[in-house]
Amino acid sequence: MDAADFYTGIVAELYGPLKSYSQDPEPYAAFLEQVGLPALELGCGDGEPLLELRRRGLDVDGVDSSADMLNRLRRQAAEEGLEVTVFHQRMEALRLPRRYRAIFLAGPTFNLLPEDNVALAALNGIRAHLVDGGTALVPLFTPEPTPADQIGRVRTATASDGAELRVSVVAEERDETARTQTTLLRYERHHGSDSTVEDRPWVLHWYTRERFEKLAASAGLAVSAVTDADGGPAPADGTGLLHFRLRAA
Ligand SMILES: C[S@@+](CC[C@H](N)C(=O)[O-])C[C@H]1O[C@@H](n2cnc3c(N)ncnc32)[C@H](O)[C@@H]1O
Repeated sequence: MDAADFYTGIVAELYGPLKSYSQDPEPYAAFLEQVGLPALELGCGDGEPLLELRRRGLDVDGVDSSADMLNRLRRQAAEEGLEVTVFHQRMEALRLPRRYRAIFLAGPTFNLLPEDNVALAALNGIRAHLVDGGTALVPLFTPEPTPADQIGRVRTATASDGAELRVSVVAEERDETARTQTTLLRYERHHGSDSTVEDRPWVLHWYTRERFEKLAASAGLAVSAVTDADGGPAPADGTGLLHFRLRAA
C-alpha cells in the first residue's frame, strides 16, 4: 500500500458516501450511452473509471488537479497501449480545446469545492465546455459530522517501504450557514528515527437541492433529473449520494 492509497482509504472510511466512490464503470458507461460522446471526466485521478471507458473505445478525456494522479494514469495507459487525453487543470478554472456532449464526475469530488462561488466557477466552466443540449452528471452528498468517539482515534497501516502510517482526526468544525465542514486530519509517517507529522484541513461543502438548482441555473444549466447513484428515485430525506443531471440550454 502506498501513502496515497492509505490516506484515500481513510478519508473514504470517514466520509460515508465517499466510500461509494464508484470504481464501477457501468453507471458512467450507461450515462454516456444515453447522452452521447465525446465526454469529459472531471477529477479523473489515476483513471477509474476513465481507463475502462477508453478500453471500451469510448471517446472520453479527463481533467485532474493532481499531476501525480495523472502521471499514474498515463503510465497505466502506456502499459496497455491505450491513447488518453488528460489535462492538468482545476475544474473551477477549465480551459480546454474541445466541447463535449457529456461531462461527469465519478463520485462526489464536487463537494471538495469549498464555497458556492468556487462551485459556480466550476459550473460556468462545465457549461462553457458542453455543446448546446449536452448533459453533465454531478454526484453530491451531505456529510455527517464525524462521531465524537472517532475524534483522536488513530488508524495505522504499513507502507510498502515498511514505514508506519498513522492518521487521525484532530478536530472538526461545522458551519451550517456556509454549509461547510472542516476536518483537521493529522498524517504521520514513522520510519526508524525518521518521522514526519503534518496536519491538513479537509473541507467539504454541501448544498440544499434548491441551492444547487439555483447555482446551476445561474450557470445556464437546468437540473433535468435527480436520482440515487444507481439511477433509482432519490431518497426523500436527502441522505446518501445524489446524482444531479444538468442540461445545457
Ligand atoms: C477521490 S479521487 C477520485 C479519482 C478517480 N475517480 C480514481 O479513482 O482514480 C478525486 C480526484 O479529484 C481530484 N480533484 C480534487 N479537487 C479537484 C479540482 N478542484 N479540480 C480537479 N480535480 C480535482 C483529485 O486530485 C483526485 O484525483
